Amino acid sequence: MTPEYLLRSLLLLIVALFSANASNWLYLAKLSSVGSISEEETCEKLKGLIQRQVQICKRNVEVMDSVRRGAQLAIDECQYQFRNRRWNCSTLDTLPVFGKVVTQGTREAAFVYAISSAGVAFAVTRACSSGELEKCGCDRSVHGVSPEGFQWSGCSDNIAYGVAFSQTFVDVRERSKGSSSSRALMNLHNNEAGRKAILNNMRVECKCHGVSGSCEVKTCWKAMPPFRKVGNVLKEKFDGATEVEQRKIGSTKVLVPKNSQFKPHTDEDLVYLDSSPDFCEHDMKNGVLGTTGRHCNKTSKAIDGCELMCCGRGFHTEEVEVVDRCSCKFHWCCYVKCKQCRKVVEMHTCR
Ligand SMILES: *[C@@H]1O[C@H](CO)[C@@H](O)[C@H](O)[C@H]1NC(C)=O
Ligand SMILES: *[C@@H]1O[C@H](CO)[C@@H](O)[C@H](O)[C@H]1NC(C)=O
Repeated sequence: MTPEYLLRSLLLLIVALFSANASNWLYLAKLSSVGSISEEETCEKLKGLIQRQVQICKRNVEVMDSVRRGAQLAIDECQYQFRNRRWNCSTLDTLPVFGKVVTQGTREAAFVYAISSAGVAFAVTRACSSGELEKCGCDRSVHGVSPEGFQWSGCSDNIAYGVAFSQTFVDVRERSKGSSSSRALMNLHNNEAGRKAILNNMRVECKCHGVSGSCEVKTCWKAMPPFRKVGNVLKEKFDGATEVEQRKIGSTKVLVPKNSQFKPHTDEDLVYLDSSPDFCEHDMKNGVLGTTGRHCNKTSKAIDGCELMCCGRGFHTEEVEVVDRCSCKFHWCCYVKCKQCRKVVEMHTCR
């Protein structure tokens, strides 16, 4: 073994340790089978967890599969929300799951932290309500007859449990590092904003009982919004995210808007510290895939348009045949019959 080789390995190891990143637990989403986390000893082997998360895992083995589902939910939603943007939330098969962009204090990192902590809160709450877990069930504190005259069913979504679990499991990484670094403050803020996106959008769902659908008796429960709604809310927060910096007020450190003319952010807003790269060129060192080969919209002036998406490099145009349903007719009673039509559309991809 040459000294150069040793030195290089050592450097790589140091880089690997320091790029260890608070969202590494999202790697759980890469585990496929349900129930794959079923024994305490599995917790030790899970990739991407820090020691304190391993301990939480051991004490809450039955909840871990919901954590995995929450991570998957978050990644899928992120990819949906960012499908038309240069950074499209692709995951890598290595750690960190989203590449280095998310280890920096960028706007994209803000979104990933928020949607992930929301994903865990959501999936755990869902599991509580559906009776999958021994430690929690429905929220029965909402019961009796409402002022509006309907009956509470006694099985509302137990969002308090889901949120508390997300706070324990997701936030522990920031807390164990000492929550005074500006990155820790940023991550904790965005984690909380993600959970708020569920809490502030809880709704009342009802079911009618009575003769032939009449609503003589109505039972209702508090329910979480669909996760798509949470994604939409957080994507809007991403677009309006506030750039912040750390300031000391008395003996506590806080994040304040960098531009003092902006109004202060609220608990629900996303905040970031570092500006993002332009995501134009392939740069695997930073986990940036670049936009070569991405589809773009020739007529759009927005970020999905070829001009912006392809970063001025231009694009290829190809004619592709798509099959669609057409000439649909309604038949009495009751079905709709369609023909299959082929049409040729232009498809544009970035150079
Ligand atoms: C994101 O874009 C890259 C090309 O830049 C593509 O390879 C990848 O499949 C896309 N990911 C998703 C999730 O759409
Ligand atoms: C392309 O962009 C235009 C203008 O924003 C929009 O009307 C159109 O629906 C888009 N096409 C596709 C295929 O998304």
